[in-house]
Amino acid sequence: ELERKWLFVSLAMIGMFVGAIVVTAIGKGIHPPSHVETIDSASLHLSQEFAEDKLGVQPEPLADGSLQVRLVAGRYGFYPREIEVPAGRRIVFRMASMDVLHGAHIPMTNMSTMIVPGYVSEVVSVFPKPGEYPMLCNEYCGLGHDHMWSKVTVV
Ligand code: CUA
Repeated sequence: ELERKWLFVSLAMIGMFVGAIVVTAIGKGIHPPSHVETIDSASLHLSQEFAEDKLGVQPEPLADGSLQVRLVAGRYGFYPREIEVPAGRRIVFRMASMDVLHGAHIPMTNMSTMIVPGYVSEVVSVFPKPGEYPMLCNEYCGLGHDHMWSKVTVV
């Protein structure tokens, strides 16, 4: 009888989890990163968008006023190593990996994503307050993983 009870409890929990996924997906438009945009990471240097001189904060804002930032993740850093963005503005990060799986994470913000080789990761973030924020790698990528970070200065 006790077993039956626990079986019911676990089934109910699974039901809740599935329910939560369905509700957020349909009700709030939150989806796993299924927005798939591929890129040839083996020849990133040949890619127009992620060429060395195209990285960093883009001089021209997007049509909606957002600022676009292009970053390349590689062992062991994000390039460019330092960026400066304005507070309160919509920032569209576009990131690609030049080698292995990395993560990009700015603590205390919504900025957290995997950077999978061969795919472009896009995250939109707004930094309400000026300050210096570290961008850390949160996917183990090798011996230098712990030292993989760069600086985001919000002004
Ligand atoms: Cu890059 Cu860990």
